[in-house]
Parts: sequence; structure tokens; C-alpha cells
Amino acid sequence: MAIDNLLWWQRGIIYQIYPRSFRDSNGDGIGDLPGITSKLDYLGWLGIDAIWLSPICPSPMVDFGYDVSNYTDVDPIFGTLDDFDEMVREAHRRDIRVIFDFVPNHTSDQHPWFIESRKSRDNPKRDWYIWHDARPDGSPPNNWVSSFGGSGWTWDEQTQQFYFHEFFEQQPDLNWRNPEVRAAMYDALRFWLDRGVDGFRLDAVWFLMKDERLRDNPPNPEYSGDMSPNKKLIAAYNSDRNDMFTVLREMRDVANEYDDRLLIGELYLPIDRLMAYYGPTGDILQMPHNFHLLRQSWDAVHIRATIDLYAGRLPDFAWPNWVLSNHDNPRMASRIGPGQARVAAMLLLTLRGTPTLYYADELGLPDVDIPSEHIQDPEEHTMPGHHAGRDPERTPMQWDASPHAGFTSGTPWLPVSHDYTTLNVEHQKNDPHSMLTMQHRLIALRRSEPALTDGLYAPVLSDGDLVAYTRESSDRSFLMVLNLGSNSQELSLTRLGRQGRIVLNTRLDREGEAVSGSIALRGDEGVVVRLD
Ligand code: GLC
Ligand code: CA
Repeated sequence: MAIDNLLWWQRGIIYQIYPRSFRDSNGDGIGDLPGITSKLDYLGWLGIDAIWLSPICPSPMVDFGYDVSNYTDVDPIFGTLDDFDEMVREAHRRDIRVIFDFVPNHTSDQHPWFIESRKSRDNPKRDWYIWHDARPDGSPPNNWVSSFGGSGWTWDEQTQQFYFHEFFEQQPDLNWRNPEVRAAMYDALRFWLDRGVDGFRLDAVWFLMKDERLRDNPPNPEYSGDMSPNKKLIAAYNSDRNDMFTVLREMRDVANEYDDRLLIGELYLPIDRLMAYYGPTGDILQMPHNFHLLRQSWDAVHIRATIDLYAGRLPDFAWPNWVLSNHDNPRMASRIGPGQARVAAMLLLTLRGTPTLYYADELGLPDVDIPSEHIQDPEEHTMPGHHAGRDPERTPMQWDASPHAGFTSGTPWLPVSHDYTTLNVEHQKNDPHSMLTMQHRLIALRRSEPALTDGLYAPVLSDGDLVAYTRESSDRSFLMVLNLGSNSQELSLTRLGRQGRIVLNTRLDREGEAVSGSIALRGDEGVVVRLD
């Protein structure tokens, strides 16, 4: 397929912004929409095509915006609807699309719908949520646990029933079997589509439908004591249900009322199940988010297998995508170390499929230690001892060497990293060998070479710590060789029978080097070779 025939989200690179942490414009220590608008030039320079914003709707912020109390407004912490419109306008002016994070599975317990719903058993909104009687002994209706630990059921004294919440108890799950709920949520989607958003990232979407009979989940045979408590059971009856596809198809119909809009789904599912969310003919989600690199142990054997299993299972009509990190998982620079973080960035930006970058990963920002008195994420408290808290990967973007890394003139809601005077955009932009320079150049290379967007992917057999593959279009071929270990390695090219020249390496010091016969890599090194 010629690259001109691809849609914007197939050609593009998506950049996830955690709005609280990108740029604070008014000194309250919390990032906001005008702050994002003021940094669009940076994103244009970086070369990304779309921003996905974690939730910005009004919220009591128990789960920092993933507990929505009004689907059709902006939380005052982030600004106003006018600020939103301005941001969208300014983004579009720079050819940057805007992807809105929509939270369909649950609302805040402060949403007027839930406030109504819990008033009485015969309230018209009662059935908008999942209410159920206790068992005869007073215990919850079934054994389902919350993803954030503890029972998924909370008892309501006033109406003497339990309600279900997949996440915190302040996040009651909506009842998607109720047509009124569906209609209200589709109207909320239209509200943002009308304002010009180019797509949605649908939050926690694999939990949307639950077993109507509320059957108990089975124990997980793989469970061991060091796993988080929510892994004790297999989520057989409260997640990934086939009747979900009806609902998702309806959401796609809503998106299809507009031109060229994208639906991404957050789905932590095995590869085979993930593929089902494209729909049998690609009629459901265009992009079921692929977290398989993010969850995989970082060694060549597993990464090779993961890439090829995903590529092999992908239906012909489906477009692939890759995610390395996000606001719920440790940052790459901490998970695999700074050297490998460069290798990982090269992998993400040269595989076939839309990459999603997480803000500040382009700087190699590590997880930042949060002193216990500054902990914000309640998950740290609901699952103590499991390092479940997500604050370390949500710290402010580091712009320059001024106090608080130029993020805020006030006190940031989470601390910046101790080495921010050098680990920042301004410093790295001026350093020809920095992580930012490397990613900037990789992105530029990807944008200028259609083979890196749409070229055929093929693995090159390798062993040891190497991951190698080619990307080929009719007129250009590239070979990527990545060393996932810290010792030097060599790949023989005799089988491939090709030679070429290095166009980019992770340390930015081998450009132009001729390659034939074999290629040697230092530890933690990756190279992109243009084949003759
Ligand atoms: C998703 C979000 C996560 C949030 C959860 C509940 O997994 O990515 O941050 O806590 O949904 O909404
Ligand atoms: Ca602010």
C-alpha cells in the first residue's frame, strides 16, 4: 500500500500527555490546557502527529480524572471549554490531531447519575449502575475483586444493596446493558466529536460488560504470593465478554457519523483476544492498544517472540500498533535502564505499526522517587507493599534548568527528578548525543522514509541478545539490529546477503559507516542500516 493511501493514524505517531504534569500555566502546581497549548510548538518540532490527553473532564480526582463527574465539560483545574477549543484549534493549525480519553466503564460516585442512583431502589437511575442484594449471609453477591484490591462490591447502607466497582469504590461501574446509559454516553462522545476531537482512547474497555448472572470467578492457578491481590482470581466473568462487541460497534457507529475519527481501546489482553477487538472485518476498534512489549520481560528471546506472534496473528485488514509505556506502568528508563531505553525507542519507532510515545520518555526520564508524605495515587494505599502506586511515572515534564524544571512557577503536585538541571528539553536539544536528539532524529527518519511506516516487516533470524528485522518497500529497505544486552554482539549478514550503510545508531556516532558481511554492536546499542 502506498503511504498516501494510509489514514492519519496509520501514518502518525501518537504522544500521550498526562495533563496534570505537562505544563502549568497559572502557578497552581498542576498542568493545564493553556500549558499544553503553549508547548505545541515543541511537539511540532518533535514530529509527532497526534496528542492523546489523559482525562480532563470534571472529576473529584480520586483517580486523577479517571473518575468523571460530568462528561461534557472541562475540570476547572485544567481550564475551560474555551481553553479546550483553543488547544484543538492550535493543534490542528500545526497538523496535530487530538485524541480524547473517554472513560466509559465507570463514573465518579459524585456524578449526578450515581447520586440519583443511590437515592432509592426505585429511582429512575437505579439501573444505570450495577446494584445487587447481598447473599443470605450478608456477603457480597459474588467473589469479584477490584483491580485496585479488595472486593469489587461496596455496601450501601441507605438502600441495603451492594454496587459494583472494578476500580476504586468511588468509581461505580455503569450498567451498559441499559439503553439509556448507552444513549447518554454516545451523546457525550458526540459532544467532543462536535468540538473537533479526532478520536478517543477508550479507558478500561475490556471491563465494559459483565456476566448477567454474576457468576463467581475461578481461582488463578498461576497465582503466587508476590503477585498483586487482584490476580488471585481469573477475571473470567467480569471482563472480555463477547457481548461487549455490540456496544463497541455502536461506539464505532457514532465515530463513523464523522469523518476519519479513531477509536483506540485500552485492552490488557492476550494477543489472540486482542485481535478480536478489531472486529471480524475491522468494523470495531481501529486500534486495540497493544501492550505486549510493555508487559514482556526485556530480553531478546521474549521480545522476538512477542513481535512475531503479534505480526503473525494480525488479520490482513488490521493495522498494528505498539506501546512501550504509559501512566499506569513504570517508565522505560527505570524498567530496563537508560541504555536499553534508547534501544527500546528505536524498536518502537521502526516496527510496523502506530507507535504511542509517553511524554518525557523522549528525555529518558526515569521513575521519580516520591517521598511518602507526597504520595498522591491511592493505589499505593489500597495495595500496600506491591509498588502499585503510579506517581513515579506521572511526574512533571522537565522543560529547562529553571526551578521545578520550568514546569510551574508554583509548587508542583509531584516533584521533578533530582537531576532536572541537565535532564530537560532545553539541555538535551543542545546536546548532539542526547536521548532527545536521538528520538528527534529517529522520528524525522521515520517520517521521511515511507518504508519505515508501511514497509513490510520481516524478522532476521538472530540469537543471543540480538533482535533484528527488515522493513522493505518497493524502493527502499532497512535493516534494524538491536542489542538487548550489555555485551557486544555480532550479526552475520551472509544469510541475508545484503550490505548497506548505517543511517542512525542509538549513540549517534556511526552514521555513514559501511556494513557488509557482518555487523558488530556494542552493548545497549541499536542501529538502523539502509540496505543497498
Ligand atoms: C485505566 C487507566 C487508569 C485508571 C483505570 C480506571 O486503566 O489507564 O489510569 O486508573 O483505568 O479508570
Ligand atoms: Ca495549572
